[in-house]
Amino acid sequence: MEKTARLIIDGKTYELQVVEGSEGERAIDISSLRKETGLITLDPGYANTGCCKSSITFMDGEKGILRYRGIPVEQLAEKATFKETAYLLIHGKLPNTKELKRYSMLLNDHSLVHEDMKAFYTKFPRASHPMGILSAMVNALRSFYPELNNQTEEEEIMITMTRLMAKIRTMAAMSYKISRGHKVIYPRPDLSYCENFLNMMFDTPVMPYKINSLEVNALRVFWILHADHEQNCSTSSVRMVGSARVNLYAAISAGIAALWGPLHGGANQAVIEMLTMIHDSGGGYKKAIEKAKDKNDPFRLMGFGHRVYKTYDPRAKIMKKMCDGLLESLHISDPLLDIAKELENQARKDPYFIDHNLYPNVDFYAGIVLRAIGIPTNMFTVMFAIGRLPGWIAQWKESIYDPNWKISRPRQIYTGPVKRDYVAITERG
Ligand code: ACO
Repeated sequence: MEKTARLIIDGKTYELQVVEGSEGERAIDISSLRKETGLITLDPGYANTGCCKSSITFMDGEKGILRYRGIPVEQLAEKATFKETAYLLIHGKLPNTKELKRYSMLLNDHSLVHEDMKAFYTKFPRASHPMGILSAMVNALRSFYPELNNQTEEEEIMITMTRLMAKIRTMAAMSYKISRGHKVIYPRPDLSYCENFLNMMFDTPVMPYKINSLEVNALRVFWILHADHEQNCSTSSVRMVGSARVNLYAAISAGIAALWGPLHGGANQAVIEMLTMIHDSGGGYKKAIEKAKDKNDPFRLMGFGHRVYKTYDPRAKIMKKMCDGLLESLHISDPLLDIAKELENQARKDPYFIDHNLYPNVDFYAGIVLRAIGIPTNMFTVMFAIGRLPGWIAQWKESIYDPNWKISRPRQIYTGPVKRDYVAITERG
């Protein structure tokens, strides 16, 4: 294999180094391009641009592979806890018994949220989207938990990472309770990470929540499937904002804001809204497919397509299987599942979707799973955010310890007016 690439500009040849990853993917290193040639590259949406070397997550979009720190997501979804998966992503290895015990203890110790934060929650207008609230409140954490004195930078980073993992589920459940005018339920030390979240969401003083192992397992799998996905839009936002050396809370808050978008994490909510629309209009799959294919119509089939996967998203495969099993075990008949399956069948037979390599992504069946465990639609993307948090933290940590760290600062090709003079207002036409 060539170790260099040659670039010819104005008759002059430049040698650029070819970099190879551990799974054989290759890249042309252009870090000295501008210095040597005066030119930059142009790549809207960064579809051909690698922003870093990373040892966290590997995905192969052609083969439908996803691995965290080398371990296939299928194995983790089958055998691991969400806590172990988070530890694996953040610390680079599966925890041993002692490490897991200590991690669990720390997550429990840090799981409470400063009481004064409740006041902020109650002042958001009732119709506020929970993602906007979560992004704001995570950013606000820095004010409640300022830098600690007498700690090394490394200790400070460790505490902040653990604190965020511990508090995010409490904060998410708290926003739900307050939005309903209900009493906030506190985390319990005897419950697992997933059990605790469901208990904080659904327990009430008059109707104690009964832990349901099927629901707990569904949430575990849902969060593991969302735990990292290398340099997607929200993770890149975390890295980019973090590159200015801002605190972790602010960087994660930026990631949450990016995830909110309907083309990204917001798609899980958008899928359910789309399926509901089809259901309410009497099941018009064809209309939805025709609209999605119409170039003059901005409508897209939500939960379909992916920047990297040009085959079935491996997470969607697991999610679909789990969705079927969960609904059956819980004896739930959701008409939206039938619509989703039929829509998938129709779309996958359609030449437009075949030619464009459009398959269901993780969001397509995710909403139906969340509905089955009682999560309200406007909380779906918050559920995604909780799951993605370990990935964001791991990527942020990797970036700040990267010896080649640089503040993110892309360039542009300017296409505006060339130099012209200021004209006094009385002389403007
Ligand atoms: N429905 C219809 N057409 C689609 C869809 C879709 N869901 N997705 C892509 N296309 C078409 C585009 O119109 C375009 O067609 P053209 O080449 O004929 O003009 C082609 O496929 C490529 O689309 P791009 O937008 O260039 O692909 P990109 O990689 O930039 O976008 C994205 C990926 C944003 C996920 C896109 O597929 C989409 O909008 N999907 C629907 C929203 C969604 O489900 N998002 C969740 C993604 S997974 C996640 O973030 C967790």
